[in-house]
Amino acid sequence: MMDSKALPNPFTPGTGAYPPVLAGRDAEKTALLEGLTKVSHPTRGGPANILLLSAPRGMGKTVLLSWLRRQAADRAVRVIDAKAGDIPDLAALGGALWPESRDKPSQLTGIKAGIVSAEWQPGQADRAASHMRTLLREHLLDATERSPLLVQVDEAHTLVPEVANALCNLAQSLIEADRPTWVVLAGTPGLLAHLMSASVQASFIERADVLSPDCLSREASIAALEIAEWRDWQIDGSVLAQVADDSQGFPFFIQRWGHALWNAGKGTRTVSIDAMESARTEVDFARRGFYARRYREIHDHEDARLVTAAAALANALSSRTSLSLAEATSAIKEVISEHAEAVRAREHLESVGFIHMRADEFTGGIPSLLRYVADQEP
Ligand SMILES: Nc1ncnc2c1ncn2[C@@H]1O[C@H](COP(=O)(O)OP(=O)(O)OP(=O)(O)O)[C@@H](O)[C@H]1O
Ligand SMILES: [Mg+2]
Repeated sequence: MMDSKALPNPFTPGTGAYPPVLAGRDAEKTALLEGLTKVSHPTRGGPANILLLSAPRGMGKTVLLSWLRRQAADRAVRVIDAKAGDIPDLAALGGALWPESRDKPSQLTGIKAGIVSAEWQPGQADRAASHMRTLLREHLLDATERSPLLVQVDEAHTLVPEVANALCNLAQSLIEADRPTWVVLAGTPGLLAHLMSASVQASFIERADVLSPDCLSREASIAALEIAEWRDWQIDGSVLAQVADDSQGFPFFIQRWGHALWNAGKGTRTVSIDAMESARTEVDFARRGFYARRYREIHDHEDARLVTAAAALANALSSRTSLSLAEATSAIKEVISEHAEAVRAREHLESVGFIHMRADEFTGGIPSLLRYVADQEP
């Protein structure tokens, strides 16, 4: 048997790190494989509809992208994988979608230089940008004639408008040309609103498919903590049950608990109730830090009324499990009376995970976050 003392901690509470067990997510995996099968079928391969993978922070978007990337590699689908922050402009988008163009002098590199050159007059830069879009489109049409392509962009809710617009239009052109391609954009629940905004102008994105991973079931939470390949590590049954409940199905909290339990139980094979109590300090500390970062996203916002609006929603949701769109808006209107501003506030609170629309009803987003915010209020 292995000595757990000598083994590195397998849990990965950091952002985007792959967990020891990717628990639950059956529906998401099925949907992702369906898209992949569509593009990679040897004779009937064709385009898959643009997919928006949107969920609050810590819900597991990045690991689903990693999972999809692994599946694509098994099916010989070429993957272009980028983070929105790495593509700040059209020139960078060119480099990301056409990596081969980086190394050799080509028409594209000339145009890239033109776009970024301060010497260019605005009109010339616009012409260069439009030429760049045409070249990229032709390149992708040509490349996807030979092999299927998956383009994944993470943190897509932060894409700069010009890049988001070019990317969505390229995806649309490839679909129209019946090429075996799939563009998957992952981001917070503000992603769709961002892409449909006046600055991005990709209104056709409303027809995109949407996948919104939610909290894990209790069973899946337990599965995420029971790691078969580290067999000498066993968690006491009642510890598992308590930790699964305390994590409320939220993947980030589950990984936090796993990490802390592993550390606390070091040297023993069975994680006891005592070890759990000593792990709790680490988990609570990390969880408060996570809540505080989410809280700052509204507290430090230019509209100072957002915190009070969140507290009003927390209050409305304290006696009910869900609110209709109209009820959520009117709870906010008690604080922000002007309709358009109340709607903007609701969209912001949704985009940072305070509330979440499941089917046509709003419920709390990240577990207990609304309660945390309400408790901060004097
Ligand atoms: N299905 C799952 N089973 C077990 N652990 C998971 C699962 N999904 C995600 N995790 C873990 O939860 C944590 C958060 O996941 P991830 O970073 O993918 O979330 P995210 O939605 O991309 O968050 P962010 O918006 O902050 O980037 C990671 O430690 C990850 O390993
Ligand atoms: Mg992520």
